[in-house]
Amino acid sequence: MKRIAIKKTGFAVAVVFLAVAFLLYGGIANAQKIEIKFSHVVADMTPKGQAAMKFKEILDKTGVFDVKVFPSSMLYGDKEELEALRANNVQVIAPSMTKMVGFNPQFQIVDMPFLFANDDAVEAFWMSEHGKEMFNSLRRAGFIGLAMWPNGFTQFINQKRPLKTPEDFKGLKLRVQSGGLLDARNKALGAGSQTMAFGEVYQALNSKAIDGLDNTFNNIETMKFYEVTKYLTVGDFTRLDYIVMTNAKFWDGLTPGQQKLFTDAMVQASKLERRLSEELNAKSFESMKKSGKVEVYTLTPAERQAFIKVLAPLYESYEGRIGKANLDYAKSLK
Ligand code: LMR
Repeated sequence: MKRIAIKKTGFAVAVVFLAVAFLLYGGIANAQKIEIKFSHVVADMTPKGQAAMKFKEILDKTGVFDVKVFPSSMLYGDKEELEALRANNVQVIAPSMTKMVGFNPQFQIVDMPFLFANDDAVEAFWMSEHGKEMFNSLRRAGFIGLAMWPNGFTQFINQKRPLKTPEDFKGLKLRVQSGGLLDARNKALGAGSQTMAFGEVYQALNSKAIDGLDNTFNNIETMKFYEVTKYLTVGDFTRLDYIVMTNAKFWDGLTPGQQKLFTDAMVQASKLERRLSEELNAKSFESMKKSGKVEVYTLTPAERQAFIKVLAPLYESYEGRIGKANLDYAKSLK
C-alpha cells in the first residue's frame, strides 16, 4: 500500500516538474520571439486575408517571429490602424493606398478614374521610381512601405437603379474610403459622398444610410454587400490596391538577418496575393452573378467612354496634388 502511495506521489511530482519546466521553457522561448501583430479590415477569404496568413505561416516557421493576424477590423478599424502603426501597437498593416492621402496626397493616384490600363500597369507603376519615391515619402510619417498588394478595379453597387450613364448617379449618396479625389469624382457625377470605415459599410447599406459604393468584386462578395444592394455595375472605375507597411522604429530595431527573414516572407506572401487577387475577384464575380441576389450590368465600351469624358477634367484638377509626372507615367503604361 505504502509503496504504491510513494510511487504515485513520485509520479505526480515528476509530472508537475515536467509541466513547470515545459511552461518555463515555452515561456522563455516565446519571450525570445519577436511578436508581430498584423491587423487588417477585410475577411480572411480575400487576397489580403490569405496573404497575411501566408506571411504568418512563413515567418512563424523561422522560429524567430511570432505573428498574430487580426482580420475584419477585429483589432483596429481604418483610422485606428494607422494610428496604431505609428505608435507601434501593431507592426504590419495593409491599408488601401487612398487611405494614405493624409500622409502624401499623391497616393490618390489609385483613385483617378480609368487611369491604369490593367494589373500589369499598376504593378509596373509601383515598381518604378515614381512608386518608390511615394513609398519612401512615408518614412517622414514613421512608416516603411514594404510591398504593394493589388486587389483590382472597383465596381459600383447601389440600391436605387442600374447605373448605365453618368446621369444615373445623380442624387446618390455613396460611401467613399477617403475624401479628396473620390469626393470630387462623385461630385462630377452629381452624387454625394460619405467617408466611412470599411467595417461600417454593411450596416449603412442595410439601414439605407447610404445608397451604395464602389469596391472590388471580392470585397463586395465577402462582406455580403451584394445581399443588401440591388444593382452591380461593372465598369472598372478606379483601383483598390494596398500598401503593406511596418513601423520604421520597429524595422530599424531588427537585425539585418531578421529583416531578411521578414522581407523573404513578404516576397512569398506578395506572390500569393497577386495570384489570388485575380483568381478570387473572378470567382466572386461569378458567384454573385449566380446568386441572383443582385442585378449585374456591364458597361458597353461606348457607355464607359461617356464616363471617361465626364470625369476627364479630374486629371487637370488633381495634377498638382498627385503630380503630373506620376499621372503621365501611369497613363503611358499598357
Ligand atoms: C475599403 O475601405 O473599401 C477597402 O480599403 C477595404 C480593404 O482593405 O480592402
